[in-house]
Amino acid sequence: MDPVSAHRGAILYFVTDPGDGDDPAAFVYHEDGLLVIDRGRVAAVGPAAALLPQLSPAIAPTGHADALIMPGFVDTHIHLPQTDMIASAGRDLLDWLARYTYPAERRFGDPVHARAVADFFIAELLASGTTTAQVLGSVHATSVEAVFAAAEALNLRLIAGKTLMDRNCPPDVRDTAARGEHETRALIERWHGRGRLRYAITPRFAATSTEAQLASAGRLAAEFPDVHVHSHLAENRAEIAWVRALFPWSRSYAEVYDRYGLLRPRAVYAHGIHLDDRDRRRLAECGTWIAHAPSSNLYLGSGLFDFAASDAAQLCYAISTDVGAGTSFSPLRTLGDAYKVAQLQGQRLSPLRAFYLATLAGARALHLDDRIGSFHVGAEADFIVLDLAATPLIARRCAQAATLSERLQILMTLGDDRCVRLTHVLGRPVGGTAHGAPS
Ligand code: GUN
Ligand code: ZN
Repeated sequence: MDPVSAHRGAILYFVTDPGDGDDPAAFVYHEDGLLVIDRGRVAAVGPAAALLPQLSPAIAPTGHADALIMPGFVDTHIHLPQTDMIASAGRDLLDWLARYTYPAERRFGDPVHARAVADFFIAELLASGTTTAQVLGSVHATSVEAVFAAAEALNLRLIAGKTLMDRNCPPDVRDTAARGEHETRALIERWHGRGRLRYAITPRFAATSTEAQLASAGRLAAEFPDVHVHSHLAENRAEIAWVRALFPWSRSYAEVYDRYGLLRPRAVYAHGIHLDDRDRRRLAECGTWIAHAPSSNLYLGSGLFDFAASDAAQLCYAISTDVGAGTSFSPLRTLGDAYKVAQLQGQRLSPLRAFYLATLAGARALHLDDRIGSFHVGAEADFIVLDLAATPLIARRCAQAATLSERLQILMTLGDDRCVRLTHVLGRPVGGTAHGAPS
């Protein structure tokens, strides 16, 4: 493949959070734009009329009609081993974990099973337009080995970690504080910073770790400040009551993680629904982010994430699918659910802000915004081409849309993986409905 390529079409990317007022300085939109890529990185981006005269005549731009070119989606919280039990109906989180989740996760001690699921999982991410994900494995190191190897084969940017869980779960998905620490350390040494891969220290949630294990996770987090921390927080009321009983000294669920040094930059916690303002401010002060998981929250009936209270406390959040409690790998469908979560509370999630949450916000949460999530010169060219005519209904609605915001609203309300025409990793097409089609 030629090291230089160019893509022409409507281009959208964010440079900061548009907030709830759709700040026009927060994003760049070129109705007829050109994205030039050199050796997997963004070399130039701008209006086609301005850039085409500078392009070598040897480079024929690929045209993307009826489409939107944007950075690949960043899914900040997703479970590899739950691929095979998505769409299992639990009464609530704790029932769902016991009945479906742990039984599915116990199979990941088998490296052959783990790799087969990892390959399928990564193909689903790419089909959905996701080019970076932060992934929980099972308790077994083999699960993380499998997903890292599958990502490495495609040179995908990925963060993953084996879950630490040494109590309150079945014996075949349980480790010990010492074994969890030993395996985490070995995985960090083997994978963190290898190519585009990074490691996350991943205590599953406070309820399945002893204080000894949380202390060990905190020690690792201090020893490896560049490594990520990834867990769940304040998702479900029964879970919160359980955490209170297990850690009677704690003022709140968030304080349990705080006690062990697990609230820090590069830490991302899924959900953060039932927090008080003191928790929100403390998380914000620590530089810790929330992975909002609307489809999961609706599916398990966990509650409604409070966008307004989070904004007021300056607590940052990005979007996540949380497969398999989440019901789709598609960030588009997930944004549609986030919109409805806001509506149910009389709040507003604008389409511009929603697409920021699925791209640059995710990159910021993971401290990767110098490399992905936007189209600055030098950024890694992970990008997608979204099809504005993917279905007859979407084509019909988009043909009548007058503004970018209206088109984004249509995409996140009616769209899913059918709208992902192409997914590129470092400039190379690797997925999407048109991938492999004759050009
Ligand atoms: N809390 C602890 N484990 C899990 C999980 O696997 N999924 C969700 N949604 N919440 C959790
Ligand atoms: Zn989760």
